[in-house]
Amino acid sequence: MIRCLPTEVQGKLRSGVAIPSLQQCVEELLLNSIDAGATCVGVRIDMEAFKVQVIDNGSGIPAEDMERAGMRYHTSKCSCVDDLENLRCYGYRGEALASICCLSCLNPGKEE
Ligand SMILES: Nc1ncnc2c1ncn2[C@@H]1O[C@H](COP(=O)(O)OP(=O)(O)OP(=O)(O)O)[C@@H](O)[C@H]1O
Ligand SMILES: [Mg+2]
Repeated sequence: MIRCLPTEVQGKLRSGVAIPSLQQCVEELLLNSIDAGATCVGVRIDMEAFKVQVIDNGSGIPAEDMERAGMRYHTSKCSCVDDLENLRCYGYRGEALASICCLSCLNPGKEE
């Protein structure tokens, strides 16, 4: 019998395709920093604890956007089909943070 996968399983599978490795995770976070106009980006990776931290001096995320950051298909970089044909940023899918959230524990803006 063909059945629809539960939403949670769909999310995990999709996230694993979007972010198949730690390298891809770091790349997506770096691209977000570049999209935000950052001129300085710091990356800290703790392989033992499997932690990644990316800090940048870009525009930041407005407080009112924080609750939507990391929700799938939520992006500030694309709002209509025409935007897809005139991309100005690396990101446009509203996919990367959602996938990283789904596969990890996210601590936005927290120094550890
Ligand atoms: N370092 C950052 N600085 C400022 N805003 C950020 C940063 N990282 C993420 N954001 C905000 O969070 C939103 C979601 O990021 P996410 O990477 O999930 O999607 P995206 O970059 O829009 O598209 P894609 O999934 O293709 O990368 C971005 O559209 C942006 O508004
Ligand atoms: Mg992105």
